[in-house]
Amino acid sequence: MKTKDILAMLALMPAMASAQTVASPDGNVSLTFSLTDNGRPTYEMSYKGKKVINPSHLGLELARDKHASKGMEETDLMDGFKETASKTSSFDETWTPVWGETKTIRNNYNELEVSLNQPSSNRNIKLRFRVYDYGMGLRYEFPQQQDLNYFVIKEEHTQFAMTGDHTAYWIPGDYDTQEYEYQITPLTGIREVISKNRKAYTANSSTTVFSDTGVQTSLQLKTKDGLYINIHEAACLDYPTMHLNLDEKTLTFESWLTPDAVGRKGFIQTPFNTPWRTVLVSDDARDMLSKKLTLNLNEPCKIEDTSWIHPTKYCGVWWNMIVGTKTWAYTDDLPSVRLGETDYSKCRPNGKHGATTAEVKRYIDFAAKNGLQEVLVEGWNEGWEDWFGHQKLDVFDFVTPYPDFDIKYLNEYAHSKGVRLMMHHETSSSALNYERHLEDAFQLMNKYGYDAVKTGYVGDIIPRGEYHYSQLMNNHYQRVVETAAKHHIMVNAHEATRPTGICRTWPNLVGNESARGTEYEAFGGSVPYHTVMLPFTRLQGGPMDYTPGIFETRLKEWSDNPSYVHTTLCGQLALYLVMYSPLQMAADLPEHYEKYDDAFQFIRDVACDWDDSKYLEAEPAEYITVARKAKGTDNWFVGGKTNNARQTTVKLDFLDVGAKYDCAIYQDGKNADYEKNPKAYTILHRTVKKGDVLKVKQARGGGFAVSLMKK
Ligand code: NOJ
Ligand code: CA
Repeated sequence: MKTKDILAMLALMPAMASAQTVASPDGNVSLTFSLTDNGRPTYEMSYKGKKVINPSHLGLELARDKHASKGMEETDLMDGFKETASKTSSFDETWTPVWGETKTIRNNYNELEVSLNQPSSNRNIKLRFRVYDYGMGLRYEFPQQQDLNYFVIKEEHTQFAMTGDHTAYWIPGDYDTQEYEYQITPLTGIREVISKNRKAYTANSSTTVFSDTGVQTSLQLKTKDGLYINIHEAACLDYPTMHLNLDEKTLTFESWLTPDAVGRKGFIQTPFNTPWRTVLVSDDARDMLSKKLTLNLNEPCKIEDTSWIHPTKYCGVWWNMIVGTKTWAYTDDLPSVRLGETDYSKCRPNGKHGATTAEVKRYIDFAAKNGLQEVLVEGWNEGWEDWFGHQKLDVFDFVTPYPDFDIKYLNEYAHSKGVRLMMHHETSSSALNYERHLEDAFQLMNKYGYDAVKTGYVGDIIPRGEYHYSQLMNNHYQRVVETAAKHHIMVNAHEATRPTGICRTWPNLVGNESARGTEYEAFGGSVPYHTVMLPFTRLQGGPMDYTPGIFETRLKEWSDNPSYVHTTLCGQLALYLVMYSPLQMAADLPEHYEKYDDAFQFIRDVACDWDDSKYLEAEPAEYITVARKAKGTDNWFVGGKTNNARQTTVKLDFLDVGAKYDCAIYQDGKNADYEKNPKAYTILHRTVKKGDVLKVKQARGGGFAVSLMKK
């Protein structure tokens, strides 16, 4: 018997003492649960014998004011617990995602379930720990019972005690947005950056930074002795989004939930399980990207017939508005709009409206010619003249097109060319209004044959006082996804809560933004390491609609916008591999792609659904190189993205033995540089076989892309 098997077996044996340890199937990760002398639940975690999480407490503080449950003097669920039972078990299953990075995903863990009773309140709770070879998840469970039926959370106090002053890759904790650049500091450096930037952090359309040591999940960390640790959550359903707040003295993070409009952090009815609190750990950074802890901790797919859900490459009437050369609005005549009363036929078109019938037709033709399945159209509906900044309830009705957008004709034209239009529902954060119109809006989509919607939540939330990441709003986003599923509609939600793997259960949630996307390249730019950071953080919970593919990277060459994209052109190609998503946009304008048609060939060719993915090299904020096998084919694609200039060696040992492949290498030109020479690229063609080696130079802020088509 191997040591790892003995360890795993020992881990499953009933606990001898009050502390119980459960190890992962390979024995590398172990988690110990205990109660302190005053009955406070505590856990700690190790990886290959090294401490990852020092002893950390678990518990919930309950509300006692008028928002708490009626007639009950709430007792906190923090301490005074006695253990009444514990159970260990093992689970090993391989499941097939509807879309994904690999054909199948293995979900293999050892579990510890601890039942606790709090004699002073006569309440019972359970703690469940799942220990994987690459991390763990824990959650609180509240069985239904006489003395714990309804309760209100004041704060969750789940701790993650760090073992040192690790390097943290973080963005500030914010109840409303994740559209930040990542900071890289020691844990003890967080306060200085946040306190210095408090003013700058109010620049977004809706922001609420709550603490000088608060950060968002997923939080990537690196220890001095080379351990990579990632803290996040899985299956955040009917619960507010969790942030982490650092106590610098003890180097301990504690959960900090998003409050609602009355300052409460969760109205709970039992039976109820909280989301999973997760810790991913490895001494190999590539495991941070390839291990699917968040997805595994979500429930299996709840949609029976998934045949209508499909990975999609799309283009759209979009970048022009973001850059400022076109508008979402139809007219400049109106100081404000009243839906149903404003008569647009009496208004003069402003001449810059993007979503005109002629322009959309041009995009449909472009999509049809280049094998893109859909065309997103923003600014097609009435209301954009005063859509933002007024905390207005009835901004859009989501069903009334502008006079110059022929919805019937355009859908028929698109379908005749094998293309679909993608709907856009900007809610301007009036969730209340959106819910009122949701059914009609989805019926309109069904009527014209739309099967995907991009939603958006720009500005402060209505109901007023709510935050983007509160329990009420998380329930709203979920209601939209579930209602959409009934209408066979795929959802791509911008500015919504960052994902926590719910796309496993509801695979019609094909994308989220919930981070700083390509649009920021037109708002001053993002640091060149941004896209070699996002896969370690934001993508832990699910795919991002990053909208890559900007070829004309210097915006002032074709607009008045002084911003420039902080990558090379080849760096943009690399994003189709490095930023995994079943929804990939070709975000630049058709006329720009026509200018660089040989480079655009890669976007035409690249898949967005995969049978296999191999992360070849990775380091947070530095570089990622990944090879992926296109779904249902023998073709491979490789992408590498870098922060600093570097040479990458790709060994083609993943190709089939004895087969030959047509290989196209799209790489940065000799003097390419994201600032000085972003558009220099070369394309090399050759025939390759298994075992061949590609040596590729990447420029500063650059990248490369390779297609390998089996002959
Ligand atoms: C912000 C979104 O991220 C962007 O993609 C969209 O175009 C605008 N909101 C308008 O809805
Ligand atoms: Ca956005």
